[in-house]
Amino acid sequence: MNYKVKGTYDLLPEEAIKWEYVTNKLKEIFKKYNYKEIRTPIMEYSEVFHREGEFSDMVQKETYNFVDKGNRNITLRPEATAGIMRSVIENKSYAQNDILKYYYIGPNYRYERPQKGRFREFYQFGIEAIGLKSPYVDAEVIMLASDIITEFGLDGVLIKLNSLGDNESRLRYQKVLEEYFNSHKTGLCNDCQVRLDNNPLRILDCKIDGPKDIVKNAPKSIDYLTDNSKLHFEKVLKVLDENKINYEIDHNLVRGIDYYSETVFEIHAHIKDFGNANTLGGGGAYDNLSIDLGGPELTGIGFSFGMERFIEALEVSGVMPNMEYILDAYIITFDESFNQFASHVLKELRDANITSEMDYDTKSVKSKMKKAIKLNPKYLIFIGEDEVKNNLVSVKDTETQEQQQMKLEELLKLLGGK
Ligand code: HAM
Repeated sequence: MNYKVKGTYDLLPEEAIKWEYVTNKLKEIFKKYNYKEIRTPIMEYSEVFHREGEFSDMVQKETYNFVDKGNRNITLRPEATAGIMRSVIENKSYAQNDILKYYYIGPNYRYERPQKGRFREFYQFGIEAIGLKSPYVDAEVIMLASDIITEFGLDGVLIKLNSLGDNESRLRYQKVLEEYFNSHKTGLCNDCQVRLDNNPLRILDCKIDGPKDIVKNAPKSIDYLTDNSKLHFEKVLKVLDENKINYEIDHNLVRGIDYYSETVFEIHAHIKDFGNANTLGGGGAYDNLSIDLGGPELTGIGFSFGMERFIEALEVSGVMPNMEYILDAYIITFDESFNQFASHVLKELRDANITSEMDYDTKSVKSKMKKAIKLNPKYLIFIGEDEVKNNLVSVKDTETQEQQQMKLEELLKLLGGK
């Protein structure tokens, strides 16, 4: 017996149809904001993610890395943003427009401990707005995230926000944090003692130390912003206020990846019994990512949601519509000798875009009927000697139980074929 890889799952048709619903609706929302789809590879050269200065657990501990047969270091993407920026640089897409607006839906890989809403192979959907630094772009991106939650009917959307500021602000803040945590070093976990040397901001994000008072009382990034960053953030908040977006400032929000600068945020909804998985998505701006990848100075901001978590949230909250596959017509022949004629009927139905199937089994009509009841088609089509001889079909409406003989053209009309 072979089992699926730990942290992965099979998406069976009953589930896949819900994904289709969500994907289609998301595409409509992205379209309203004029975002266009981008698809970048799942495999990237490792340096796309393993950049200098990237000390996040996601990159340091959770990536799937391998050496390919050409001796190249490859990483399965743990997230979409860095690969998209690599693409923008490589294709010089930034020359097309002052702002590139992309959306994506695709798989990512992280070697994490699987738990509720957390997998090793998981899907994200999200957006990136690359090229134009403006508080209005930041606000629009946050409003789009909030719009997604409300459009799908989820309650209690809450955006948690913070600003890490520009490079100067971050350097200032990092220094203050370093001093602060150095004076509280003994209270930190082993990992955070290492983080103190690499990037003290990561301590704020630590699952072990995060809830401790030393972290809760740590200096706040917002108090070390340069005038420009402060003004930028204030403008973002003003637009959110103007549009009645429900947000709160979270001074310890630094996000789990090191490329962030300026505005960072997380998207929460109020979902019963969801615990940590209440964080449906997160994002922020990344002014240095392009340079870190060897590209020109290019700003960007975006967010991603976890698809599995989002779909579960819709289900738990009772706002996932009842999705089911619809079978318009199901053909039953009274004997195999009529199958040839039936196959022609079937082809005509399908050519007319009508979802149809035929029972190829050679069992009795009774057993075929049993199967048909389970499949629940809108119409049952019977074909026997009389039908073949007169070039007709017998059609039973499974709702009204009415049955009548008709020509194939009439059947196509009845089923609204195109
Ligand atoms: P992230 O916070 O690492 O950000 O992930 C975003 C979302 O992906 C999380 O809030 C969560 O819903 C989902 N997620 C993360 N890891 C897992 C997992 N193991 N299983 C299931 N769902 C998961 C990013 O990935 C950034 N690229 C977001 C971004 C876009 N920042 C700027 N642009």
